[in-house]
Amino acid sequence: MSMEAFSGTKIGYFIISVLGSAMESRFRYRFFGPTQILRGTDIQPGQIILEVGCGTGFFTLPAGQLIGERGCLVAMDILPACVELVSKKVQAANLKNVRVTQGDAMSTKLDAGNFDLVLLFGVIPAPMLPLNRLLPEMHRILKPEGTLAVWPPVPGWLPKSVLWSGLFTFAYKQNGVHNFRRC
Ligand SMILES: C[S@@+](CC[C@H](N)C(=O)[O-])C[C@H]1O[C@@H](n2cnc3c(N)ncnc32)[C@H](O)[C@@H]1O
Repeated sequence: MSMEAFSGTKIGYFIISVLGSAMESRFRYRFFGPTQILRGTDIQPGQIILEVGCGTGFFTLPAGQLIGERGCLVAMDILPACVELVSKKVQAANLKNVRVTQGDAMSTKLDAGNFDLVLLFGVIPAPMLPLNRLLPEMHRILKPEGTLAVWPPVPGWLPKSVLWSGLFTFAYKQNGVHNFRRC
């Protein structure tokens, strides 16, 4: 069953609502400040960034602010409800450099070699995002010197499979963010 179809079922809607509340909890903002986590990667003004699975926009608004007016952030989610919610937040914050879009990260339809940075924040490991399909697509859209930044929602989980893919090499880890360079 696809993620979209799952979200349309009663149980799916319930689980996603609970997850959504947890993603926006005060506890999370207090102990996992999004700006500090974002500073664990080499996010810079003027960069072109893809955020995979923007969810409720926990990282979207701070990332849009960090890249400034010359930057461009594409915030993607497969669920229309997330896209609608984050679009409203982006509009309310008057962030003109953020484009919120519905799409499947395993087949983004984005141009090849265009992105400085991809954020996989709070999205892997997850069964609906198998790395054997996700990583080749991230490799395709990144610039040759681009960075894949992974912040795992499970503390202590090491994204070794990113290395095993042979598509990325480990660069550094900061503020819990694992940074990989495109090979
Ligand atoms: C656990 S939430 C994390 C949200 C956000 N990154 C955060 O940390 O608050 C995972 C998000 O990934 C999205 N997602 C799942 N599969 C996806 C796919 N194939 N393409 C794009 N987004 C996907 C889900 O809809 C969900 O909003």
